[in-house]
Amino acid sequence: MAKHKVIIDTDPGVDDCIALFMAMANPDIDILGITTVNGNVKVEQTEYNARRICEYAWHSGIKVFQGCDHPLKRSVLNAEWIHGEDGLAGQDFGEPANKKSNVHAVDFIIDTIMSSTEREVSIIAIGPLTNIATAFLKEPKIISRINELIIMGGGFNEFGPRGNTTPYAEFNIYADPHAADIVFNLGQRITILPMEVGQQVYADHAYIEKLRDMNLRCAKMAANLLEETAKKLTPMYDKMLAANLSPELGTSLYDPCAVACIVRPELFSGKYGSVSVNTDSRSEKFGMTTFLAGEKRNCLVTYKADKEAFLAFVLEHFRLLS
Ligand code: BDR
Ligand code: CA
Repeated sequence: MAKHKVIIDTDPGVDDCIALFMAMANPDIDILGITTVNGNVKVEQTEYNARRICEYAWHSGIKVFQGCDHPLKRSVLNAEWIHGEDGLAGQDFGEPANKKSNVHAVDFIIDTIMSSTEREVSIIAIGPLTNIATAFLKEPKIISRINELIIMGGGFNEFGPRGNTTPYAEFNIYADPHAADIVFNLGQRITILPMEVGQQVYADHAYIEKLRDMNLRCAKMAANLLEETAKKLTPMYDKMLAANLSPELGTSLYDPCAVACIVRPELFSGKYGSVSVNTDSRSEKFGMTTFLAGEKRNCLVTYKADKEAFLAFVLEHFRLLS
């Protein structure tokens, strides 16, 4: 089987780091480049973190590109309160040997898609969608040439909180709703792994210990990252519930779902339709995503993950990365 050629658009980020570890480890994934965006932390830091992560996992040859430093229209939003000031929970990743590229992430995306054959390259987007929307607007020809666009973002729960950042909005969409609107409108062959799917596959204490007990460099780092995040989230559990926000049990493996989905789509169930985004900044529902069943079927919105199989699948990757 030919490998999945992918660009990973990301804002590392604790769960982004685990997603990147998985993608590096998976023998069926060929990472053409990592593009970074403002999100969990500022873009200079997400770029630096991506290079640190590659180096740490013995993949310093992977190219990293810095992208958009602010959302299309709204003000900059970051999530240091959960990912830490440096975006990686203060863990020691060391200094990357590879130097920063001066090619912009948006240009890398456009050039890579335009110079490959049609539907040869997929994009896994696990941060706010600013780079992807900007690339769509700058070179609309890329839209039909992308093989698959796999996105972690949004919330579609009909009963219960719709968001983890506001009661109606999930972080990646809320951090740039206008970009998400462009991407969901224009994109083709989109698969969405929303908040509620990531929250089904959470790493609890026992799982974190399993990772640690593997006694492997990247597995131990993943355990530290997840443990630090759990320490922040657990005291917030009741507060989030009271604020009508969707709280997490353990630490949700949001972004790893997007990587798993490209190689093991059968781990997820979904339905086809389209997605709209509330872009009215005066509305309390700013950034809310809505699933629309109808003739337009450019999005596969997943709603369920096979939890046990998924968690085992994530663990396997750490063995491969050793
Ligand atoms: C998403 O928001 C970020 O904080 C995570 O990295 C993930 O991509 C989950 O809502
Ligand atoms: Ca992310």
